[in-house]
Amino acid sequence: MYDKWEELENSIINCNKCKLCNKRKNIVFGTGKKDADLMFIGEGPGADEDIQGIPFVGKAGKLMNMAFDGLGINRDEVYIANIVKCRPPGNRNPEEDEAEACLNYLRNQVMLVKPKIIVLLGSVALKNILGKEYGITGARGNWIEKKGILYMPTWHPAALLRDENKKIEFWKDLKLVKEKMQTM
Ligand code: URA
Ligand code: SF4
Repeated sequence: MYDKWEELENSIINCNKCKLCNKRKNIVFGTGKKDADLMFIGEGPGADEDIQGIPFVGKAGKLMNMAFDGLGINRDEVYIANIVKCRPPGNRNPEEDEAEACLNYLRNQVMLVKPKIIVLLGSVALKNILGKEYGITGARGNWIEKKGILYMPTWHPAALLRDENKKIEFWKDLKLVKEKMQTM
């Protein structure tokens, strides 16, 4: 674990700890406020993120930005990262060995950001951060506290593109987050 951002960022530059390094264009490290109270964790880069090197800039990201705007969450005030930093080919889920290889970077990011709240976007984020025993359908919308951090699992923004109901629930979950932030 590094206690300086610069050291952590340098340590990942040529990472080849898992097979996702073979096809990536860019490592998508993370973006936002480095000491944010609120952090978002997604799954892994898609095609647009792979090209730009920035998380959530594609279709799902645009939907997330719309929710942020509607709720008064400023993207520059939060920190956004993913379970894996390199794009899984064809947008498949990251495999267990890949997530395992990459997770220490994310743990280090969390250690440096020291967020009060972490929003877990979808099943892959939920299971890798809180444990395989959790399911997103049951867990979403409910606070889970662990080691002084409040976690809010919710749908992955890409899931909203296919399901209007999930959009409403996603919005509701983020509203809970926004309200909680205001009491902190
Ligand atoms: N989906 C994710 O999980 N992360 C991104 O950065 C983009 C899409
Ligand atoms: Fe390294 Fe993570 Fe990319 Fe795998 S996904 S090569 S562990 S940065």
